Amino acid sequence: MSGTSCDGIDVAVIETDGRDRVRPGPALTIPYRDEFRERLRGALGGNGPVEAVEEELTRLHAEAVLHFRQEHPGREIDIVGFHGHTILHRPREGRTWQLGDGALLSRLTGLDVVADFRSADVRAGGEGAPLAPLFHRALAATLIKPVAVLNLGGVGNVTWLGEREEDILAFDTGPGNALLDDWVRAHTGEGADWEGALALRGTPRDDLVKAFLASPYFSRKPPKSLDRDDFRHLMPEGLFLEEGAATLTQITAAAAAAARRHFPRPAREWLVCGGGCRNPALMAALARRLEAPVKTVEAAGWDGDALEAQAFAYLAVRSLEGLPLSLPSTTGVARPTLGGSLFKASARLSQ
Ligand SMILES: Nc1ncnc2c1ncn2[C@@H]1O[C@H](COP(=O)(O)OP(=O)(O)O)[C@@H](O)[C@H]1O
Ligand SMILES: [Mg+2]
Repeated sequence: MSGTSCDGIDVAVIETDGRDRVRPGPALTIPYRDEFRERLRGALGGNGPVEAVEEELTRLHAEAVLHFRQEHPGREIDIVGFHGHTILHRPREGRTWQLGDGALLSRLTGLDVVADFRSADVRAGGEGAPLAPLFHRALAATLIKPVAVLNLGGVGNVTWLGEREEDILAFDTGPGNALLDDWVRAHTGEGADWEGALALRGTPRDDLVKAFLASPYFSRKPPKSLDRDDFRHLMPEGLFLEEGAATLTQITAAAAAAARRHFPRPAREWLVCGGGCRNPALMAALARRLEAPVKTVEAAGWDGDALEAQAFAYLAVRSLEGLPLSLPSTTGVARPTLGGSLFKASARLSQ
């Protein structure tokens, strides 16, 4: 998995039947070198040549797989789920674009690869995102409901799960870390507000938080999804560094809180994953705004850093098994929809 934060590659292994059996295994994150991260950021939007970035990204994923296999030599791997990196997400225009060459990854690793998870859903009229919700449901089988799983990556997304299996609703909440990362990068060169240190020293501008929340996105009924940069035009200007960080932290939390108006019933508990759950300022802001216990997913025994990567491993198996990756209530697609393209390792032998 290479998330919209452009922070690096997450590798995770799970054992699963693609249904209710999930046994998570070890995981690994390999940060991108700054110089590749800049090239990847340069490819966002897809304006300009991206082939070289796609090839390099695929090669880095192959190295990540090989690295993982060296660290865990006893592990059999039957299939790799390769999400790639989203550089453009415009589902309403029928477009979602993930860089990543499944055939090349399969050749380089000698493993079967499922890639291209989102386009079938978008072709069928869905948002193509979020796709982790069915994995959240499988993991949450024994939890008390309703529960909300909030993933704070570059973008924020939530999965609401009720008592019955069909009680599932998912959508993007708004900004995750991307705006905050961009703010900090522009002003300090650092990649993120590590440990929320800047935000904790700043006073948020509540007027700007309120103005941000007036965007029609938040009242729009789900399903709905976002591109990393959909809110870039609302980036605050002219603030002090700490003030901006505090304001953007509150905006991310307020956007998550705004998601509640769409829930069929209030969540009894929020479980937070993604890099945002490592930010104490953001977690405190969520706790203040959500009016229900807020915990990191580790409280449920899950691995918050590996969850997205695990989700695409799960979806790869579902793709092989001919099970849907998305539902009307998770992406807005008209009916449960299959997805993913299989690249067989044996193709290597015939070339
Ligand atoms: N210790 C930390 N303190 C503050 N923010 C953090 C920390 N660790 C991760 N993050 C945030 O999480 C982001 C990465 O989150 P991640 O879930 O990997 O997102 P994505 O899925 O978009 O790649 C970083 O860009 C940063 O904003
Ligand atoms: Mg990431």
